[in-house]
Amino acid sequence: MAKRPFIILIASQKGGVGKTTIALNLAVALRLQRYSVLLVDTDIESASLSEQLGIKSDGKGYSNVVNREAEIGDVIFAYEPIDLYIIPGSQAMERVEQKPEKLERFYSMLSKQSFDFIIIDTPPGLFEEAVARYFRDVAIITTPDSVSSNGSARMAQYCDRHKLEHRLIINRAGYSKYDLEREEVEKIYGDVAFLMIPEDKIIAESIMKHKPAYMIDREADFCVAITELAREYSLKVKESQEGEAGSIQEERETQPGFFEKMARWLFKQ
Ligand SMILES: Nc1ncnc2c1ncn2[C@@H]1O[C@H](COP(=O)(O)OP(=O)(O)OP(=O)(O)O)[C@@H](O)[C@H]1O
Ligand SMILES: [Mg+2]
Repeated sequence: MAKRPFIILIASQKGGVGKTTIALNLAVALRLQRYSVLLVDTDIESASLSEQLGIKSDGKGYSNVVNREAEIGDVIFAYEPIDLYIIPGSQAMERVEQKPEKLERFYSMLSKQSFDFIIIDTPPGLFEEAVARYFRDVAIITTPDSVSSNGSARMAQYCDRHKLEHRLIINRAGYSKYDLEREEVEKIYGDVAFLMIPEDKIIAESIMKHKPAYMIDREADFCVAITELAREYSLKVKESQEGEAGSIQEERETQPGFFEKMARWLFKQ
C-alpha cells in the first residue's frame, strides 16, 4: 500500500515572521534524517523559496498545477545536494485566482504523492477551509510581539474549529528587548503549547550564500531548534505509522526539551 504523506502547513497571520525560513530548514532537517520530503511553495506572488536557494526555474510552478496548466510531475524538481523535492511558487504579475475546488483538486493529488513529509510554505493569512482536512499538522509561526501573537492566537482558534492539530512557534526570540514576557505570552495563548526559535545571524549568512542554514552549521542555535522541531514531527509520523505510542512517549519524557530550556533562558527563569 502506498504510504500517505504527513502534510504540514506552515502558516501565519502576519507576513515576514519566518515561514519560508522555517519551512525550508525543517524540510532539510527531515531530509537529512532520511525521510523523503516534498516542499511546496504556495506563494503565488513572490516564489521566495526558489530565491532563497538561488534557483532559477522555468517559471512553472504551484499555480500552474492549481490552474490545470501542468501536472505535479512537470513542476517538481530535486534540490540535488540532498535530493529534497520542491514545487516552486510562481512569480505571477497578475493576481492568480484560487477557487476552493481547484485547491481541493490540488491537495487531493498532493496527498497521493509518495513522500513521508510534504511541507507547505504559505503566504500570510488563513488557509482555505475546503482543504483543511488534508493537513495533519499546522505550524503557526509568530514573533514575540503582541500584533503577531494576537493574530496567531486567532489562527489557533481557526485550527481548533477545523479540528486540526497545531503548534505555535515563536520565531526570532531574543531579537528585541521589547519581546513579550512569558506571562503575556501565556495570557494570549492560553493552554496552547508554544515552541521558541531564536534570532540567529546564521540566517543572514544563509541568504547571502543561497544555502539553507541547516546545511551550513547544524550546531547554530536556530538549527538546534529546527532539529528539535523535526524530532517532534518524526515522532508523530512514527506514532501514526507504527502505533508505538508507549515507547515514543518514554523517549519524549526522557530527552531534555530544547524549547523548554530556550523558554527558561529567554524568560530568565
Ligand atoms: N530566526 C531568525 N533569525 C534571524 N532572521 C530570521 C529568522 N527567521 C527569519 N528571519 C529573517 O526574517 C525575514 C522574514 O523571513 P521569511 O521570509 O522566512 O518570512 P515569511 O513569513 O516567509 O515572509 P512572507 O510572509 O513574506 O512569506 C527574512 O529576512 C529572514 O531572513
Ligand atoms: Mg515566505
